[in-house]
Amino acid sequence: MLRIEGGKAIVTGGTRGIGLAITRALLDLGASVMICSRKSEDVESAVAALEGSHGKRVFGARCDLRIYEEVRALFAESEERLGGLDILINNAGVPSRSYVEQMSVDEWRQTIETNLSGVFYCCHEAIPLMKGRGGGYIINIGSLAGKNTFPGAAAYCASKFGLLGFSESLMQEVRYDHIRVSCVMPGSVGTGFGGRDEEASSWKLKAEDVAEVVVNLLGMDARALPSAVELRPSEPKK
Ligand SMILES: NC(=O)c1ccc[n+]([C@@H]2O[C@H](COP(=O)([O-])OP(=O)(O)OC[C@H]3O[C@@H](n4cnc5c(N)ncnc54)[C@H](OP(=O)(O)O)[C@@H]3O)[C@@H](O)[C@H]2O)c1
Repeated sequence: MLRIEGGKAIVTGGTRGIGLAITRALLDLGASVMICSRKSEDVESAVAALEGSHGKRVFGARCDLRIYEEVRALFAESEERLGGLDILINNAGVPSRSYVEQMSVDEWRQTIETNLSGVFYCCHEAIPLMKGRGGGYIINIGSLAGKNTFPGAAAYCASKFGLLGFSESLMQEVRYDHIRVSCVMPGSVGTGFGGRDEEASSWKLKAEDVAEVVVNLLGMDARALPSAVELRPSEPKK
């Protein structure tokens, strides 16, 4: 079993929403965590707030995960700050709600490059570091939109369907190196994802529900690996 206490983790997109809840949960259990997002001011304020509650076990860096060189710099800084890597949570993601006919090429690229290519870049950097420490755990935050389709979500669904395939294939590649890979696929979570107004959505999952699944996965006995987890609101709006 991987020990969270004393563990060293990177959580992408840890400045708000699900990533922030996962970061808090890992810090609560004694891990050291590096977070990132595209906005320096958000990274700084999240780190300052988390340091206030958890002490100097949290670090941050600005990084646009769509750019491989920036991901390399993130992992180099993380090595310097954390001195190793046991846990990678690929959480950062963006929505896309356009019909294909109206979707700009930029929106398509931003969705695929963030939700899929960024995860590849991070895994590519993480695997040798984890092998060097005898193992680790990579958790990819997918979506039920990685199993179910709906109109106006072609780019988002393509990115999350792709992420599930990537995740399960990677799981088979690295399992004998003692690196575990899981894909967590939540339904609707009450965050401000894509600037959504979250008033009157008490039926939705909370970011903390996803964090609880992540912590439970990390705590599983090494014998057992839930490679994909679907997490649904119990009673979604009809
Ligand atoms: N909320 C839901 O209903 C829901 C349901 C299923 C799955 N998910 C998945 O859960 C994950 C987190 O969603 P959330 O609801 O917590 O979203 P959120 O509140 O919008 O947070 C997204 C995080 O990702 C960061 N990010 C976005 N693009 C980035 C990039 N190119 N480079 C670095 N950081 C980037 C954001 O920071 P910046 O914008 O400042 O860069 C932010 O920290 C996503 O992968 C999403 O697809 C969400």
